[in-house]
Amino acid sequence: MESSDITFRTRKWVRPEDLNANGTLFGGSLLKWIDEEAAIYAILQLGNGRAVTKYISEINFVSSAVQGDLIEMGLTATKFGRTSLTMRAEVRNMITRRSILTIEEIVFVNLNIAGKPEPHGYKEITYDRDRIPTHHLTETPHG
Ligand SMILES: CC(C)(COP(=O)(O)OP(=O)(O)OC[C@H]1O[C@@H](n2cnc3c(N)ncnc32)[C@H](O)[C@@H]1OP(=O)(O)O)[C@@H](O)C(=O)NCCC(=O)NCCS
Repeated sequence: MESSDITFRTRKWVRPEDLNANGTLFGGSLLKWIDEEAAIYAILQLGNGRAVTKYISEINFVSSAVQGDLIEMGLTATKFGRTSLTMRAEVRNMITRRSILTIEEIVFVNLNIAGKPEPHGYKEITYDRDRIPTHHLTETPHG
C-alpha cells in the first residue's frame, strides 16, 4: 500500500520531552500518539467508543526525527473483520515527506458494554462522520 492511500491527519511538533538518550524522537512517545490516533480512527469507523487495541504487528522505525521537526501521522483501514478492524499506519516528516515509521497491522476489537467482542456490521471505510457514537460510554447505547 502506498502513502497516497493514507490521509495524514494529526500533526506533532517534536519537543524536548519526546526525545530519547540519542537526542532523537523517543519511540514510546510515537507509539502513544499512534495508538491514540488508531483509537479515534476505529471509533469513527466502527461507531463505537468501546474499541480497544488487540494487536500491533512489527513496527518499522524507518528514520528518526529530531527536536523541532514537524511530523504527521495517518491511518487507513485495510480489513473489516467480524468484530475487528485492521489498520495500517504511517508517520512521516511533514516537510520532507520522509517516512519515520510504518506499522502494517494495528487491530482494534469492537466491544459491547460487557467488554466482549461484538460484530460491528461494517465492511467499508467511511469518509464521512456518519458513524460517530451519539451516546456517552457510561450510558447504555440507547439509554
Ligand atoms: C479484546 C479482547 C476482548 C478480545 O478477546 P478475544 O478472546 O481475543 O476475542 P476473539 O477471539 O473473539 O477475537 C476478537 C477479534 O480479534 C481478532 N484477534 C484476536 N487475536 C488476534 C491477534 N493476535 N491478532 C490479530 N487479530 C486478533 C480475532 O480475529 C477477532 O476478529 P474478527 O471477529 O474480526 O474475526 C481481549 O483480548 C482483551 O480484552 N484484550 C485486552 C484489550 C486491551 O485492554 N487493550 C488495550 C491495551 S492493553
